[in-house]
Parts: sequence; C-alpha cells; structure tokens
Amino acid sequence: MPPEPLEYRNDLLFFSGISIQELAERFGTPLYVYSESSICRSIDLYRKGAGKRLHRICFAVKALSNISILRLMARESCGADIVSGGELFRAMKAGIEPSQIVFSGVGKSAGEIREALEADILLFSVESEEELGLISRIASERNKIARISLRMNPDVDANTHPYISTGLRENKFGIDRGSLLNIYKKILSMPGLDAAGIGFHIGSQLTGLSPFQDAASILSQTARLAREMGINLRYIDVGGGLGISYNGDPVPGPDEYARQVCKSLDFPDIEIIFEPGRSLVGNAGILISRVLFVKDTPEKKFYICDAAMNDLIRPSLYQAYHGIWPEKKSQNTVRADLVGPVCETGDFLAQDRMMGSFSSGDLLAVASAGAYGSVMSSNYNSRPRAAEVMVGSERAVLIRKREDYNDLIRGEEI
Ligand code: LLP
Repeated sequence: MPPEPLEYRNDLLFFSGISIQELAERFGTPLYVYSESSICRSIDLYRKGAGKRLHRICFAVKALSNISILRLMARESCGADIVSGGELFRAMKAGIEPSQIVFSGVGKSAGEIREALEADILLFSVESEEELGLISRIASERNKIARISLRMNPDVDANTHPYISTGLRENKFGIDRGSLLNIYKKILSMPGLDAAGIGFHIGSQLTGLSPFQDAASILSQTARLAREMGINLRYIDVGGGLGISYNGDPVPGPDEYARQVCKSLDFPDIEIIFEPGRSLVGNAGILISRVLFVKDTPEKKFYICDAAMNDLIRPSLYQAYHGIWPEKKSQNTVRADLVGPVCETGDFLAQDRMMGSFSSGDLLAVASAGAYGSVMSSNYNSRPRAAEVMVGSERAVLIRKREDYNDLIRGEEI
C-alpha cells in the first residue's frame, strides 16, 4: 500500500487527487509535490491528542522551509521552531508571528541573537552556559529581557540513526541534566534573562514512544525542583522527533504521541510546545522523477532516473528507505538499483531493492519525501534545484520555480 496521499486509480498513480503524469507534464521532473490536506490532517491529529491541554505547535522549519508551506502553517495557527537567522527571516516573511517562534540550535551567532531579540520571539532554547552569557549580555545592553528555555540533554537513547540522535550524553546537544539546576540558579542573578521554560529534543524519526516518556519523566523532576527554587516556568518544550512510516511498518500517530506526552507531564498550568517537522510534512510530499535509461550489467540492473542525491540525499546520507512507486501499477517486480546521474557511487535513491519494472521514459514517485528532501538539496554537479508544487483542493500550484543555469552562477565572479 502506498502511503497516503498516493494511490492507484485504474492502475495509474495519483497524488492528492492529481495524476503523476499530469504533474510531470505541467511542471517537469524532477519535481517535489506536497499535499496541503495531508499536512492539515497531521496538524489536526496533534491538536486532537493534546486535547484541552494548553499547547502550541511550532513547526520545525528545517524540515520543509518553502514560504508557501510556512504560510500554510501560519494559517493553521502554528508557530515555528527555527535554527538560524535565515529561518527567522523566512518564518516572518510567511506571516508567522514572532510571538510564536522558538529559536533552537547549539551555535547561535551574536547577530542572530540580536535579530531574534529585536523581533521579540517567544523563546530562545539555550544549549550552553556560554550561549546563555551572550544572550544575557546582548539583552541587557539593549534593555530587553530574553525569554529563555534550557534544553536538557536527558541522556536517553532514541533508537534511531546515530546521525539524528541528539539526546545522548555524547551528543553535542543540550545541557547535561546534572548541571541544569545550577544553571537555573545562576540565571536568577543574571541580567536580561527570564527563565520561562525547560525542554528537550532527543532525536528524529523515533518510532516508539518510550524514549519520549523517559525524557519527560527526567525533565519533570528537574522542572519541579526548578520551580521550588523560584524559577517561573511557563513552557515545556518537548522538541520534535516523532517518526513516520517509510516502509509500511506501523508507527504511533501524532494523536497517540501527543496524548502520551501530555500525560507524562503533570503540570496543568505549563504550556507544552511541540516542535514537529517530519510528522507534519514527511508523508505529505513526494519526489517525481523520470527514468532516463535502463542499464543491465552482468552484476545488476540499474534504473537511471533524472533525480539524484543532490535532490534527495537521505538514502545516501542515512541509508534511508523511501518507497518507489511506478506511475503505472506494475504486476512484475525486479531487483534493481534506482540511481541518479551524479558522478558518485553513493548516488542512489534505492539500492538492491525489489521494485516495479521500468522502461526508459517511465515516471515514478519517491514516497515520503516531504521532510528533509528539498531543504537538503544542493547544486552538486551543477544541477539546478527541482521545482516545488503544492496541491490544495485538487489544484496544483507552483510554489518554487525550477532553477535555471543562471541561478547556478548567481553571485559568482569571473
Ligand atoms: N526541534 C529540534 C530542536 C530539532 O533539532 C529538530 C530536528 C526538530 C525539532 C524536528 O524534528 P522532527 O520532528 O522532524 O523529527 N535530516 C534528518 C533529520 C534531522 C533532524 C534535525 N532536528 C533526516 O533527513 O532524517
């Protein structure tokens, strides 16, 4: 079964009510396509799970930062979780209120901190004592108060790919859980700071709920002690991290996840901030590509398509699995590699996989490519970046033009 919103109608592949063929003919390939209704459904599931509990959803902009997507988030009353001045710029351009923005990340520059303070964002999620000192200095110089949240490193294993695990003691993220209370104590005498929150983010693509529950229970103990110490906590930021199903295996939905997280945090007067990325947009996007050549070697069959690692790097970087769905439902399957034109052996979208058989010219959809797809694309091999399209109420709209050769050399000097 293809993940929603992909489906076969009379053996032809449709995405969110429009045929892959129509999308490819209108906008060319490779092409990213997103489904508005699918994104909205996932947002609703978060809200349903959180129920009456005071909460806010701050979309992790890094997962899919096109400003049309961010505009949709604003319309759906979501805020943003940002990790750079560039993401602050995008979020504000899209109409997300600064009062709904959380600034995460281990390496905020003084310039970025100034910009976020001027904008008066909701919270800085602070990851080290040095960062805290810098925020305090910048805020007091400007007679401002920065609302901050300390990001705890709870030392729990997220059971995910090591590159996207962030809550272990050896990871660069967060503040060691044993030092947190001492730092809250220091904040009480530091100028320009309002210690308004506490949080964690333990990793991405988590397919079980127990690491979240473990982190929540460790955080709860510290939050209680911090309050006793006179820290006026109003926010608990639980980060993002809920996984999606890439291969059909069951994964808890946002409703179940949000319900469990809320249950694990017994502070009715504290607002919970969710920072989902992948679970809002991952399964709501595909990458459409066309097969250029079929190459049979004595060793293997290769389908060479027009999308490559520069368009979608997840398979090469994390050995990630993405479903490959042929435009025409195919009865016979073959073992093959689906590769791109980039000059690297590491350039593949699927490796040694049973998939539908293709001829040159055929179209296919790489599934679950909405999150960390287009945002991680590059111009490697001087390949212009793909166009992006959003489908809303059965209408497809271009939300990012395909790059051309002039885009490739913009800013370069001869
Ligand atoms: N909050 C913080 C502080 C984060 O660092 C992240 C993701 C999120 C929220 C959103 O996490 P999500 O809900 O999407 O799991 N490029 C990798 C994923 C990197 C995630 C980085 N941080 C991938 O393609 O799998």
